[in-house]
Formats: sequence, C-alpha cells, structure tokens
Amino acid sequence: MERVGKIGALIAVLVLTGATANPSYAQDAEHGKVIFKTCAACHATDHGNRVGPGLEGIVGRKAGTVPGFDYSDAIKNSAIVWEAKILDAYLESPQEVVPGNRMPYAGLKDSTDRADLVAYLATLK
Ligand code: HEC
Repeated sequence: MERVGKIGALIAVLVLTGATANPSYAQDAEHGKVIFKTCAACHATDHGNRVGPGLEGIVGRKAGTVPGFDYSDAIKNSAIVWEAKILDAYLESPQEVVPGNRMPYAGLKDSTDRADLVAYLATLK
C-alpha cells in the first residue's frame, strides 16, 4: 500500500511538471541550420552570389548591398536594415514586406521555424 502511494505521487509529480512546462522554446540555431537547407539552393553562407545574394553577416546588414549581385529595385530601394524582426516578417511573406522583390520563395509560415532560422542566420558572421 505504502509503495503504491509513493509511485502514485511520483506519477502525479511527473504529470504536473509535464503539464506546466513552459511551452515557449528558446530559439534553436541548430534547428535553423536544418531549415536553411531550403535556402541553400539559392543562398551561400559567405559573400558568394548564387541565384540569391550571399548571406554572410545578413543580420544587421543593409538590404541590397552585396557587391556584384543584381538586386531588384524593390530590394535596393527598400531602405531595410536586416534586423531579426524584419527578417522574420520578410521570411514569412517576402512579397508583402518587399513588394516586387525577386526572391522566388513563398514564405515560411511556422513562427518557431522562422525564429530558429533567424537565430541561425545571426551565426553567419
Ligand atoms: C529560389 C531561390 C531562393 C530561395 C529558395 C531563397 N531565396 Fe532569398 N533571395 C533570392 C533572390 C533572387 C534574392 C534577391 C531578391 C531581389 O533582389 O529582389 C533573395 C534575397 C534574400 C534576402 C535579402 C538579401 C540582401 O542582401 O538584401 C534575404 C535576407 C534572403 N533572401 C533570405 C532567404 C532565406 C533565409 C531563405 C530560406 C528560407 C531564402 N532566402 C530562400 C533567392 C532565393
């Protein structure tokens, strides 16, 4: 009887801690690196230009400034500085944030995936 009671209490504690665990996860750059595979078809992680401009140092960089990349006027004239918040919005819906830009990417709808991706982009120094 005593033993059953202890096990019962232990299960109760496990269930409670599981139920009250904080559901907001920290940004996970490692996971972001996996998501980046869909971007890597077009983007290098250094200054090398492919279909898209190289993304080295993208966080904090002014939009449309990689030398030798033929940007759209939409990006060049956007006056955006790619901080985390605007990157998140752009990656959710590129055409809404920079209408007329030429990135052929529909957008990443999952906000956790986007946060992880931006955390990974911040590691590209
Ligand atoms: C099919 C090719 C393609 C894919 C996939 C793609 N991009 Fe792009 N990206 C481009 C092109 C082309 C541009 C330049 C757009 C322009 O000049 O209008 C661009 C521009 C950008 C810019 C602005 C860069 C600057 O120097 O101002 C960022 C940031 C960016 N992409 C991030 C991403 C991320 C992150 C992903 C993955 C979720 C991604 N892109 C997926 C082709 C792509």
